[in-house]
Amino acid sequence: MPAIPNSRIRKLRTWVPGENSSELIGVDENQNQITLIDLASNDYLDLVRHPLLIEAARQTLETDGVGSGGSRFITGSRNIHQKLETKIAEWLDREIVLLYPSGFQANLAAVLALADRHTLVICDRLIHHSLLVGVKASGAKLIRFKHNSLSELERLLKKFRQSNPKKQLLVITESLFSMEGTTAPIKGISKLCIKYDSKLLIDEAHAFGVMGPEGRGESFGMKEPISIISGTLGKAFGSGGAFLATDKITGENLIQDSGAFRYTTALAPPLCASALAALNLIKSNPDWGRKLIDKSIAIRNMLSQIGWERPVGEGPIISIILGSDELAMDYQKKLEAQRLLTVAIRPPTVPEGKSRLRMVIRRNTPAEALERLIKVLKDK
Ligand SMILES: Cc1ncc(COP(=O)(O)O)c(C=O)c1O
Repeated sequence: MPAIPNSRIRKLRTWVPGENSSELIGVDENQNQITLIDLASNDYLDLVRHPLLIEAARQTLETDGVGSGGSRFITGSRNIHQKLETKIAEWLDREIVLLYPSGFQANLAAVLALADRHTLVICDRLIHHSLLVGVKASGAKLIRFKHNSLSELERLLKKFRQSNPKKQLLVITESLFSMEGTTAPIKGISKLCIKYDSKLLIDEAHAFGVMGPEGRGESFGMKEPISIISGTLGKAFGSGGAFLATDKITGENLIQDSGAFRYTTALAPPLCASALAALNLIKSNPDWGRKLIDKSIAIRNMLSQIGWERPVGEGPIISIILGSDELAMDYQKKLEAQRLLTVAIRPPTVPEGKSRLRMVIRRNTPAEALERLIKVLKDK
């Protein structure tokens, strides 16, 4: 393994949940205990410690135990798996939903279902690592297009469709980009995929629960040419595990063929139960996503008023690109000294020279903490 420069060495820190869902307790560099406001986790709707999720998990723990004890085809399938799959499918208006133990695994499975060594995969330059691992495992040829650039995507689709009218093409994008906070032009991408006869895989890991109509994702209501949508239950849903949503034929192929679905222990039943409780909460609070987006837009506006370039996007992930690793780390420390937890994101997670401070606004992030954030960032 090549040597990792000092500015890139990561240290695992452990946290204890604080008194309320906005707080995390950890230790600082001098081993002193500190309580920080969490502006870093992906628990966008503050559901990780919601009483209804905890109660749902507790009840299922008593009836079904902790783990499922087997894969879905051996002894691991429980009613709660099928119930959750059916309810997510109804919510998203897709024919089949299949649960996976993690989004990483679901993404691998999704790419492997849609691509093989004869496929050309054209993906956004900034898609998640798990999708790239999937492409590598599939043996497909990979080409990347400039982040969110419809013109570059069209140029590539046109070029490869013209040179080989029969070629299998697959376009992959995220909807809400995890490290940028940008939203992909899904409608435009879909139109291009139809025009050039390409399949489309969309990772909505960060969008479900928040973005799109009533939090149903940016792809909600769109059918052709979307082959698979991938989502995780470990972010806005406050639980764990993940799912793929698709049509009947692709779903049946996944059930029969997807190693990542068949040869893995089924998602722990208490996690399914809390994900179902989260889904019910999201359905009965259809304005949660919109309100969070409004709150996030307000913070972006404030950042531009105090002299920062307005962070792109509109969702709850706000990235301030700082350039060097050192500067990003300095800002992380500066905010931590004011009891605010944000995380400096450095290469290889993001491209070289694009180290950044990634901030996450959540449903219950206290207004006072956001005022403090703006105060610290005002003082450049
Ligand atoms: C865009 C994206 N897709 C997939 C995943 C993987 O999801 P999971 O955490 O459920 O494995 C993540 C991150 O964690 C992600 O950011």
